[in-house]
Amino acid sequence: MGPIGIFDSGIGGLTVARAACDLLPNESILYFGDTAHLPYGEKSPELIRKYSTRIALHLVNSGCKAIVVACNSASSNALEQIREAVGPNIPVIDMVHPVVEHLFQEEDTNCVGLIGTRATISSGLYSRAIDKHNLLGGVQINLLSRPTPLLASAIEEGFYNDTIPGAVLEAYLDDGYFDRVDSMILGCTHYPLVRKDVMKLLPVSVDVIDPPLIIAKTLKQKLIDNNILSTDEHSFRRFQVSDLTDNFRLGAQRFFGADIDLEEVELNL
Ligand code: DGL
Repeated sequence: MGPIGIFDSGIGGLTVARAACDLLPNESILYFGDTAHLPYGEKSPELIRKYSTRIALHLVNSGCKAIVVACNSASSNALEQIREAVGPNIPVIDMVHPVVEHLFQEEDTNCVGLIGTRATISSGLYSRAIDKHNLLGGVQINLLSRPTPLLASAIEEGFYNDTIPGAVLEAYLDDGYFDRVDSMILGCTHYPLVRKDVMKLLPVSVDVIDPPLIIAKTLKQKLIDNNILSTDEHSFRRFQVSDLTDNFRLGAQRFFGADIDLEEVELNL
């Protein structure tokens, strides 16, 4: 059975890859970081679709049995195109819908905050997914969202465990816009790396949701449903990038240890 293909613009999706490996140690992972084209959050929907479908096809052509779009910007703007490109036999897991499901099923929330890239927030996908649930009746959730565009680039540059993300977040969050929220979605896969900085700026009662774990659980369920869960005891983790940068290498080593299988790959689809 093939590996799970996971991709993002850069290191952010590694938060999801790490959670997937921890929950599913018998699964092999092929991770693609599109470092030549980051940040996705500032790109047009058309360009995000072009990059994302190209990577998804590359992962499927490399034998991947399922795809995790470990990027909110790509999930919000390119999901339909990715699904169309890989066809009906490859399960595709996005960042948005599992988190919205989790909100309605597991969280006791009436007002949720969302921070993410400009591309994610302006796509309106979280808002549409929440509205769809609200229309079913039952629990009603109000969404307050705001783009925090500098944050992913700062993290990609290696500024985590550092004062810079805190200062960037303060500039975006200190006007009380999120005062009413009782939970907060980290709507960019880079943001779990600065989770503590986000928590510091919100009241302690706010539940800061952990999307990587939710996505890993969703992935596990999808593999079970499709009868493609691996029992392989010799699973591997392979990392590919479109531009081999020190930032990516250091990020990947932070999550997966010094001895990683990392290569630069040019996509010519
Ligand atoms: N980590 C990605 C996301 O979840 C992309 C960040 C970026 O490249 O702007 O949106």
